[in-house]
Amino acid sequence: MQVTFIGLGVMGYPMAGHLANAGHEVTVFNRTTSKAEHWLQAYSGKMAATPAIAARGAEVVFVCVGNDDDVLAVIDGDNGVLKGIAAGALLVDHTTASAILAQELHAKCKAQSVSFLDAPVSGGQAGAVNGQLTIMVGGDKSDFERAEPVMDCYAKASKYIGEAGSGQLTKMVNQICIAGIVQGLSEGLHFAKRANLDTAAVIDAISKGAAQSWQMENRWQTMVNNEFEFGFAVEWMRKDLKIALDEAGRNGASLELTQLVDNYYAEVQELGGNRWDTSSLIARLEKS
Ligand SMILES: NC(=O)c1ccc[n+]([C@@H]2O[C@H](COP(=O)([O-])OP(=O)(O)OC[C@H]3O[C@@H](n4cnc5c(N)ncnc54)[C@H](OP(=O)(O)O)[C@@H]3O)[C@@H](O)[C@H]2O)c1
Repeated sequence: MQVTFIGLGVMGYPMAGHLANAGHEVTVFNRTTSKAEHWLQAYSGKMAATPAIAARGAEVVFVCVGNDDDVLAVIDGDNGVLKGIAAGALLVDHTTASAILAQELHAKCKAQSVSFLDAPVSGGQAGAVNGQLTIMVGGDKSDFERAEPVMDCYAKASKYIGEAGSGQLTKMVNQICIAGIVQGLSEGLHFAKRANLDTAAVIDAISKGAAQSWQMENRWQTMVNNEFEFGFAVEWMRKDLKIALDEAGRNGASLELTQLVDNYYAEVQELGGNRWDTSSLIARLEKS
């Protein structure tokens, strides 16, 4: 298929690469041109000067940028995707953004006979590199069925959730759950250290039981070692938690722990941890 990928960041670069490796004809756009040039040295495809030009002739256009404002800029800006995309084409947004934006873009695209799916991902950089992402999708089901075989290039699972915005709302649930889990794990490890326990033995014992989690399996060792210069950055997590907290303000959900953990992440930022992995919540406990 003729596909376009906008945003060759940590996630987008390998995702676009999987599309090229699967034999699709890929056109890429990246705001910083050097990243697109670099991508073209690793994969076969073309690069375009603007999102509008990149979208011309594409059957599917994928976007993976930073936040709501960035999505608006590349999709609805002066040289945005909507200025170039053909009627009948499909636009898939993999950015973690708000559900309101997804609903607005779904309506705006529909007026132009373009299909829109909100399709945020989970699985991190490793998931993108290994083609093992989980994708949660909102929009029209028939559009999901068109997109799924293409997204399979970089996903281990894609799940249709419901109407426009449902993918983003599901990602919010994901981030709410992670916030509480990481704080609980931080306190557990902090306690184990203060109790002078052998943390490796503790994790060996409890990681097979009810306390087990992805964070425990993949992060306990680096948390104990105070190593945080990798992974999913605190600033991105705070962006995601703000989206969830704003949505809770609208739907009336009580997110007491999420609010608390967001405040804790603000403290981690004050410690210099803006770009640290989210597991750095333990750093504010260990500093005292
Ligand atoms: N990293 C993860 O582990 C992870 C996991 C799940 C979900 N996500 C989500 O996936 C999205 C992308 O994350 P990432 O880690 O790939 O971010 P990233 O490495 O910072 O890349 C962001 C990309 O968006 C582009 N961009 C940002 N603002 C733009 C604008 N206004 N106009 C045009 N291009 C713009 C950047 O272009 P430049 O190169 O020019 O800066 C870059 O290509 C985010 O919404 C993030 O929350 C990330």
